[in-house]
Amino acid sequence: MKKILILPGDGIGQEIVAEAVKVLDCLREDFGLDVEMEQALVGGSAYDEYGTPLPDETLRLAQEADAVLLGAVGGPKWESLDISVRPEKGLLGLRSGLGLFANLRPAILYPQLADASTLKPEVVSGLDIMIVRELTGGIYFGQPRGIRTLDDGMREGFNTLVYNEAEIERIGRVAFEIAKKRSGRLCSVDKANVLEVTELWREVMQRLSADYRKVELSHMYVDNAAMQLVRAPKQFDVMVTTNMFGDILSDCAAMLTGSIGMLPSASLDENGKGMYEPIHGSAPDIAGQDIANPIATILSVAMMLRYSLGHAKLAERVEAAVEQVLDDGLRTEDIWSEGTQKVGTAGMGNAIVAALRA
Ligand code: IPM
Ligand code: MG
Repeated sequence: MKKILILPGDGIGQEIVAEAVKVLDCLREDFGLDVEMEQALVGGSAYDEYGTPLPDETLRLAQEADAVLLGAVGGPKWESLDISVRPEKGLLGLRSGLGLFANLRPAILYPQLADASTLKPEVVSGLDIMIVRELTGGIYFGQPRGIRTLDDGMREGFNTLVYNEAEIERIGRVAFEIAKKRSGRLCSVDKANVLEVTELWREVMQRLSADYRKVELSHMYVDNAAMQLVRAPKQFDVMVTTNMFGDILSDCAAMLTGSIGMLPSASLDENGKGMYEPIHGSAPDIAGQDIANPIATILSVAMMLRYSLGHAKLAERVEAAVEQVLDDGLRTEDIWSEGTQKVGTAGMGNAIVAALRA
């Protein structure tokens, strides 16, 4: 039996994960999914209880699990804490502690939601991009880092953007493999005109392409990539990039699809073990109001079924159930438009479970 660790986290994390757990329960009861679930604290809620955003017990449970489902972390309540114990550190500690170097962030526009995008329907209809973000290296983890006081009393903040060839190569291989199974187009995003580290990034990607002759590799500077994403996003199929560029570009890509509340993600280690989470944050401003969209988290369960639990068929069923409720015109507030029916977080979760059972 496979083990899943459930980490709701903070803010809307609690509510959206509860809906995803309903989906998992339904799959267990009605579809023979053989998993056991355990729950633990991470982020601000863990800090409140244990004085650390990533208790040893949580990390241990995550290491023992076959897959982790995470809601979101953070909130204004913890913003004034020292950076070393902020909720975000819990998430970053899980990513590095589990070796989850490959972050897959698909941005798919559901045709039912073409109106919800701020871009013209013809620009985004049919959009289907996969962003592959490096997740355990780069400026997020590079040493040295900190804030120091210089001799003249002036303070200076510093971080280090560093990648070695092995780190670039392993994320590159993940991206090439994915591109091979899709349209065969891979765009590597860097800032090789300014940063040596991404000059090396580009060189390694170029070298790797010799092993993937069927994949057409292109390179783009990150500023241009940001522009192209809103100008003509359908030119992209698979994109591969560094930790911080991927953070920024994936938020941008998310909005193309109408709402950041729709996008799931998978963070994988070398062996396909993964942590699954919506790409949005904890949205403290709407927490506890039953208005958050649980779809990104439920689609994260689908990714978990596919990548870590070996249940591609069940993944398709979950995705089909989401499509079904969208077809039926049900919408949470973030994707609502005239003529559709507004439902809350729990209402959306229940409808997806009902569609699964139907
Ligand atoms: C994300 C988030 C995180 C990140 C934060 C919460 C640390 O923005 O998953 O994209 O920067 O990676
Ligand atoms: Mg982000």
